[in-house]
Amino acid sequence: MDKKVNDIIILLCKGISNRRLYFSNHPKVISYAQNFLKELTAFFEMSEKEEFFVGIIDGHFIFNGKRLFGPTIVGRQLIQFMQMLQCGGVSFKKGLTVEDLSAFMDLTDGLKNPLNSLQEARELFKKQGILLITLAGYYSDQPGMGAPDSKRPWEGQEAGGFLQSPTLIYQALFDVVTRAHGDAAFSRELDIDSARSVSEFMLRFTQSNFADVMQYIHYPDYDSYTIGHSVRVSSIAVFLGMKMNWPEENILAIGTAGILHDIGKSRIASEILYKASKLTADEFRLIQDHPRVGAELLLAQRDVSPLDIAAAWGHHLRYDGKGYPEKPSWAVRNPVIALLQICDVFEALTAVRPYKQAMDPSHAFSVMTTDKGAFHPGLLSAFIAFIGIYPPGTYVELTDGRIGMVTGAGIIIDRPQLKIIQHRDGTRLKKEDQYAVDLGAMDRGSLGVSQLLLNYLDTEN
Ligand SMILES: [Fe+2]
Ligand SMILES: [Fe+2]
Repeated sequence: MDKKVNDIIILLCKGISNRRLYFSNHPKVISYAQNFLKELTAFFEMSEKEEFFVGIIDGHFIFNGKRLFGPTIVGRQLIQFMQMLQCGGVSFKKGLTVEDLSAFMDLTDGLKNPLNSLQEARELFKKQGILLITLAGYYSDQPGMGAPDSKRPWEGQEAGGFLQSPTLIYQALFDVVTRAHGDAAFSRELDIDSARSVSEFMLRFTQSNFADVMQYIHYPDYDSYTIGHSVRVSSIAVFLGMKMNWPEENILAIGTAGILHDIGKSRIASEILYKASKLTADEFRLIQDHPRVGAELLLAQRDVSPLDIAAAWGHHLRYDGKGYPEKPSWAVRNPVIALLQICDVFEALTAVRPYKQAMDPSHAFSVMTTDKGAFHPGLLSAFIAFIGIYPPGTYVELTDGRIGMVTGAGIIIDRPQLKIIQHRDGTRLKKEDQYAVDLGAMDRGSLGVSQLLLNYLDTEN
């Protein structure tokens, strides 16, 4: 059920962000709206409920009192919109029509300034003919439900606020990448500064909470996976740069380059980019041209660093010089780009795609190490050592049935450090009751990892 609820809200959020990038009757927007309605109808049938209520507390979506991380990460626009309406939640009623929904989505784009009160927002909805979507007051209006949300999701946040919340960082990352791709698709100027500042926030946060950051890279983003891919490549690269004690300027450079590396894909029609069947020769050439397109696109921007351009151009070049585009004999490989290339392939192998399941890290490592000459050998070994076969942020089941989140690689590759989040009887531990276990310090016979839980999403933490 939790996954269903996540999916429903994500569909709505995606519809809204595409509504902003395109126009209201663009096929993409219509298809999100239709799928949202379809899933919502299925929800009503299954739950026998009359309404689907989503709340907002502290910049997060809430459903049945639980925070929803996946939707929060991709739902910045809806969250901001609801804050502008001065409301603490929105309810979609049974019988919701396409007309109601498209008027609602149009409003998310049309409203430029916050309203003065919830009453005003309700009147606006009435005026627009939106009848089956209603607005609720702040949670704090009800006793014991916490303070009203006064924060805007991420813009204007002090660094300190950011550092307390990986959700905010991920929201900002998704936002920056989505916007960069949208701007590039329409030949608008890119906001390179935001890419740089969000990678700085990421670095600061990763320094103290790297497992939390890595945990977030598992949230799926369904069909817009170029966006999620760039977010994840950039996060993994920052984590690695930090683990290898790179100078801060290089870590920042790789974070920004990771955000922008696939920007050339914004110029490829999504029908080709996300085509499930085999590509024609022409389509394949078009896709292989994205590094060149991306580099040219960045060259035309102000304030872009040479490394960002080089990374967009060279991230599909292998260590042995093969790959694409063709490498001129004078070109020199930069370690930042060499690491980005490793992160790029690792992410592609271990991510879920509509046409494939996630590959577990150890399998991905064996694919990567057997591809001789593909990667910088020293960087690849360091990468494997720091990510480990149970990467920080992933969930594992232990031999006694408990479930834990990996917080760090141990000295022994298959004996990581963990935080236990679930008892063997299946009950969930509250955050304050979770405790650390270091498998590296324990006898192998007494406790070990029984399996890696690749599809486990922590919806409660
Ligand atoms: Fe690429
Ligand atoms: Fe990529």
